[in-house]
Amino acid sequence: MNPIDLRSDTVTRPTPAMRQAMAEAEVGDDCYGEDPTVNRLEQTAAEIMGKEAALFVPSGTMGNLTALLTHTRPGEALLLDAESHIYYYEQGGLAAFAGLLPVFWDTPNGCPSPDFVRSMLHRNPRMYPPVGLVALENTHNRRGGCVITPEEIAAVHAVTQEAGVPLHLDGARIFNAAVALGIHVREIARHVETLSFCLSKGLGAPVGSLLAGPAVFIDRARRVRRRLGGAMRQAGVLAAAGLIALTEMPKRLHEDHENARLLARRLAEIPELGVQPERVQTNILVVRTERLGISAEEVAARLRERGVLVTVYGPTTIRFVTHHDVSREQVLLAAERAVALFRELLSSRSG
Ligand SMILES: Cc1ncc(COP(=O)(O)O)c(C=O)c1O
Repeated sequence: MNPIDLRSDTVTRPTPAMRQAMAEAEVGDDCYGEDPTVNRLEQTAAEIMGKEAALFVPSGTMGNLTALLTHTRPGEALLLDAESHIYYYEQGGLAAFAGLLPVFWDTPNGCPSPDFVRSMLHRNPRMYPPVGLVALENTHNRRGGCVITPEEIAAVHAVTQEAGVPLHLDGARIFNAAVALGIHVREIARHVETLSFCLSKGLGAPVGSLLAGPAVFIDRARRVRRRLGGAMRQAGVLAAAGLIALTEMPKRLHEDHENARLLARRLAEIPELGVQPERVQTNILVVRTERLGISAEEVAARLRERGVLVTVYGPTTIRFVTHHDVSREQVLLAAERAVALFRELLSSRSG
């Protein structure tokens, strides 16, 4: 029996419609700008996000790195959240390739106060490295898939605009944010200069992300992408799946959010886990395991034995992510198995 894989929404496989579109894709050499399917994907993405242009990149990591390299110069500071993906999971690209110094805020939903941003943007330039870029993340992965509202972003943007510093959004899961807020993604994207977002997470495409922003920025970013080795040739094969991800798949993301809430409600039956279902806004649920009496690694291993896969997030945290390839029934079954395991662990502790 296949395990129920709740490690990440990146484990989704292309749908039959995506596979068919990939097989039939019209292609050309994208380095010559001649792949019609890539061109269509980039134009569609720019239109959806309300930006002048967009660039197809192999991964969210390359989308973010391309943005950092295009916006900034080595030695500048990058202002971002302490729990951000760019800092945690992108192999230090911000330092290794872009030569940036990370400077953090640390807030419950990953959005800084405008006052904090203002204070950082106006530090004495004779003493401190200037801030070259401010980066937000929406939804926020390590903070449990939480959402930042357009109003919160607009307040930060007012401050960055005043200082002439660009604002970038790691919008890997921007469609999840828009669905949770009941708004169009453009309402979020309009308050940042540039954003990257992923086709290969909740939207189910096998590969690919986009970086969107002003046309002059994207022209420069296209050269940076090539420098990074991210310029591809007949990439229309991938873009064909990406177009379906972009235009068809956001419609069903609410199902993933409902399933995450169902899971949270079941797990909340065990108060020791500290789950608050009302705080689950999208498809990610982070659970604290310290009161179960074994490490998160071990909790994950025991869940695996029972056919449920989760990600270890820290010494005492595990993450569940709902997605296209797990049904409501599978989520309920996973919840039942997890609750049974957690009850056993708690009773063996008290016994
Ligand atoms: C918030 C966020 N940003 C960026 C990325 C990077 O995407 P990729 O794995 O395609 O490089 C991820 C991947 O999980 C993510 O969660």
